[in-house]
Amino acid sequence: MKTLACLMLCCGLMSWPLCGQPRYKDASLPVEERVEDLLECMTLEEKILQLNQYTLGASDNANNIEEVTARIPAGIGSLIYYEENPELRNGMQRRAMEQTRLGIPILFGYDVIHGFRTVYPISLAQACSWNTDLVREACDMAAAEARRSGVDWTFSPMIDVARDGRWGRISEGYGEDPYTNAAFCTASVEGYQGSDLSSSTQVAACLKHYVGYGASEAGRDYVYTEISRQTLWDTYLPPYEAGVRAGAATVMSSFNDISGTPATCNAYTLSKVLKGQWGFGGLVVSDWAAVPQLIPQGAAADRKEAARLAVNAGLDMDMVGHCYDNYLDSLVREGAVSEERIDDAVRRVLTLKFRLGLFERPYTGEVPADQRLLLPQNRELAERLAEESIVLLKNEGGLLPLQGQRTIAVLGPIVDAPGELLGSWSGHGRGEEVCPVRDALTEEFGGTSQVLFHAGCPFDGDDRSGFASALETAREADVVVLFMGERRGWSGENGSRSCIELPEIQEEFIVEMQKAGKPMVLVLSSGRPLALQRVEPLCDAIVEMWQPGVPGGRPVAGVLSGRVNPSGKLSVTFPRTTGQIPVYYNRRQSSRPRQGLYQDIPSTPLYEFGHGLSYTSFEYGDLKLSRESVTGGETLTAEISVTNTGERDGAETVHWFISDPACRITRPLRELKHFEKQVIPAGETRVFRFGIDPARDLSFVDSDGNRFLEPGDYYIMVKDRKVRLQVY
Ligand code: GLC
Repeated sequence: MKTLACLMLCCGLMSWPLCGQPRYKDASLPVEERVEDLLECMTLEEKILQLNQYTLGASDNANNIEEVTARIPAGIGSLIYYEENPELRNGMQRRAMEQTRLGIPILFGYDVIHGFRTVYPISLAQACSWNTDLVREACDMAAAEARRSGVDWTFSPMIDVARDGRWGRISEGYGEDPYTNAAFCTASVEGYQGSDLSSSTQVAACLKHYVGYGASEAGRDYVYTEISRQTLWDTYLPPYEAGVRAGAATVMSSFNDISGTPATCNAYTLSKVLKGQWGFGGLVVSDWAAVPQLIPQGAAADRKEAARLAVNAGLDMDMVGHCYDNYLDSLVREGAVSEERIDDAVRRVLTLKFRLGLFERPYTGEVPADQRLLLPQNRELAERLAEESIVLLKNEGGLLPLQGQRTIAVLGPIVDAPGELLGSWSGHGRGEEVCPVRDALTEEFGGTSQVLFHAGCPFDGDDRSGFASALETAREADVVVLFMGERRGWSGENGSRSCIELPEIQEEFIVEMQKAGKPMVLVLSSGRPLALQRVEPLCDAIVEMWQPGVPGGRPVAGVLSGRVNPSGKLSVTFPRTTGQIPVYYNRRQSSRPRQGLYQDIPSTPLYEFGHGLSYTSFEYGDLKLSRESVTGGETLTAEISVTNTGERDGAETVHWFISDPACRITRPLRELKHFEKQVIPAGETRVFRFGIDPARDLSFVDSDGNRFLEPGDYYIMVKDRKVRLQVY
């Protein structure tokens, strides 16, 4: 009866409100009212269509395939939009607005991971900048490029804590630490969404991949993850809780099986935790075709069961899985899925569409590309972020910055491979828009030195034919700069590698070039930490430039010349060898700290989390607490002064760790709880502070997510400083 009445109302057979339009179209009403009014008008079929996402345009993810446009129903809920200009999207949107009974706009999503067209550094590199303000600005810039190009929703930020460099997707997140991922998640959500989602330059964010995807077994992708409830709460959930608190509009469930219950149909994580304990009111979308993938994962016998399991667990939208559109109506009619659950999911979809202002402004303004993409200020922002992301790992004898060398030999596969510097998930970035290393170094050094270029070595394979001539070039120079590392496709989705050493031929090339007997700088471009045990001793200086995006070789050229003082610090540990994985800073203490270590290599990593050198030097003062003891409800301030004792200005990041050496649930040796970056002029001192709230910073969660604060001794730590704090 209700449906008939709605149909009559919506078809105009009954009286419209005075304004002459259905209430849901009245922008003066609260979103909640508009949602309920529209929901009441919808048929089951119209509701179910809203819970599906197909694709529109030329798919750019080789691991997935695209829909044929014609097959797309005009009442579809969402489309992944692969085009760079809004025309196709507006055409499809016009079908939705004018050829459907209720005129519900389509929601267009896309992977704007580290830039839309102005591609900036991969997220793993962004975290090494420790500059959340700059990352917020970059996401805000990316949101403007995306929204003005027809994308309302980005499938970003990716906040999967990852500690296994063999996993290609380690490049997409903010490293090995929960707090770091939480901090950059918050900055990204704020940057993407701004203060008003209906703005024509903001997009809805999407926390992904919920949850525990970074624990992928042996670094392979799409696989099982063994995660205890305690570890789920300690390690993998915190960034998502931060993102929900930051107001993220959506969440994407992950491909992995969480200890026997795939994330796509995991009622505990999707409903009990996310929507229950955290009160998340937004939309949960599956990852690509993850609903039917419940079949190979062994959770569902067929697509209909997959649809039932997923929707009843709390998954709201089926990305390209064609399970919801094919089976939800029969599941509802059979009583296997309640219409209340369907309404809950549709409510979440409609709420987002109203919040984005799509009912009032369904179409994207059609502005020429050069007025919305790659704007000079966008490029400048990307370059600043890339500069701050670069990590100086080694600088023996102060070889860097290069000054006074007459002849510089620049060798290696990265020299003339600008496209590789875009990294994975580079949106609409184009290789030809990336500044090649060759051009950047010519521009940087051309006026003062002779720069000799020679690739000399492929990324991989066994073609050593360039070695001899490269060695000749090295012999002519005063210093050799090697640009080595990874192709962009070696990391990212489906980018797992069984070992994270440089390919054999690259290591051999480094050994060969050392025969020239010249000082050697190794510059690495990679989407993951690399195991450098064999090459580290051969190089006087080592710089990790990551995959910087459009700025390409220019930021690192500035570091090599000294124009830029490197300030990056690692957001992920660099092991000595692949065999050392997993190795990460916030590990728990062993029962015999000095035993059980490797017999063949040191058990410490090659470069620790937080490691990064500067061209100046910083001296840390004493760590002081405003009080030595507190109750759980009181707060205190920790502070430490840092002096720039060098000759040039530099930016320093202070990492604040805590430890609880005795707790009813054992704690890691140390846990990051705050960080702050400041520029300190040469010769000057700055004070860094950490406002400690024990209930927030010294409490932990148990395996049910209940937070607790134990009385006892805690330690506040910066570098090697460690001060006790008593909580009673
Ligand atoms: C992919 C990825 C996910 C991405 C989605 C849409 O398979 O796992 O990160 O957002 O599909 O492209």
